Amino acid sequence: MTLVDRLRMQAGSCRNAGSPLTADLLVGAAEDLSRGGPTAALLGPLEDDPHGSVPPLRFAGALHRLVLARRAPGLAIHYPSVGGTPGDVWPAARDVLEDQLEALHGLVARPVQTNEVGRSSALLGGLLHAAAATGLPVRLLEIGASGGLNLNVDRYAHEVADGVVLGDPASPVRLHRPWRGSLPPGVRLEVVDRAGCDPSPLDPSSTADRLTLTSYVWADQLARFERLRAALQVATDHPQPVEPLPASAFLARELAEPRPGVVTVVWHSVVRQYLDPEERAAVTDLLLAAGARATPRAPLAHLSMEPERFATGEFRFPLTLTTWPDGHARVLGEAQGHGPPVVWR
Ligand SMILES: C[S@@+](CC[C@H](N)C(=O)[O-])C[C@H]1O[C@@H](n2cnc3c(N)ncnc32)[C@H](O)[C@@H]1O
Repeated sequence: MTLVDRLRMQAGSCRNAGSPLTADLLVGAAEDLSRGGPTAALLGPLEDDPHGSVPPLRFAGALHRLVLARRAPGLAIHYPSVGGTPGDVWPAARDVLEDQLEALHGLVARPVQTNEVGRSSALLGGLLHAAAATGLPVRLLEIGASGGLNLNVDRYAHEVADGVVLGDPASPVRLHRPWRGSLPPGVRLEVVDRAGCDPSPLDPSSTADRLTLTSYVWADQLARFERLRAALQVATDHPQPVEPLPASAFLARELAEPRPGVVTVVWHSVVRQYLDPEERAAVTDLLLAAGARATPRAPLAHLSMEPERFATGEFRFPLTLTTWPDGHARVLGEAQGHGPPVVWR
């Protein structure tokens, strides 16, 4: 698939997911690239980049970063994230490409690095299933944890039904009615230990890293901004350690011995596509080997929210849980790319 096709396909996904601004930007870029306009100088060299590295979203994030840094005022007037109103965005974006090509070259080379707080709704439900299946408190290990924001899952207010708030009802992070379908078990959740890893962890207290996280939020999705902003505030009081390690090195150490008295839950969301094949295989092998060592007193669970692609090119995000020692695997439900609504089976 050519980069022009990938831009158009990503535009369709963004439109379906409620970001017409990003969609219009990517459609404009696709047309300009196919005509050999300024987009060709910027994105042409990315033609052979792996699909999973999502060049269209790197491009959208690069432009958004310039807007957030007040370096693209002509484009900013279309960006709600800085008080603008969506309009005819492409001509303004094209001007930025012409004026700031060198800066953009550096920015589109960066990986997409989100820390999507809405995905904590999927994580919470999965943790409740793991807790109910084992009757034990949770030791949470997140691979690809980015800024560690979702390690604070139980410190957010998840308003799952009228008058029913799970987590911390006083939290500035409020997820309103994030669940549908047959709800996860109503057990008490106790997270007694939590840790994460990422080869490039982001520090929620650093201005530069906050800018990075914010730039990959689609600029017309203000509810996501609010969640991110509030989660960064929670992280000020509850910073979560994210070790600068790839998943394989982290899991090799953390899963070396079964941990009695807790259910160890290894969780990841939208990380798999960023792992090279050796790393992916190593993670699978480590989980299977640790699963083989698990016991009813020291169980292991693997909880994952990763995209699957339909033949039409559309994505879905099943939430899967495998528990050991029995090795029981099931699909718990399906989330949207940024989390809610999560439809439980
Ligand atoms: C799209 S972000 C998702 C972050 C977070 N899980 C979320 O849902 O918001 C993908 C993350 O995977 C991380 N990553 C890339 N290679 C990795 C590896 N070998 N092990 C662990 N994480 C990795 C990236 O640094 C990045 O933070």
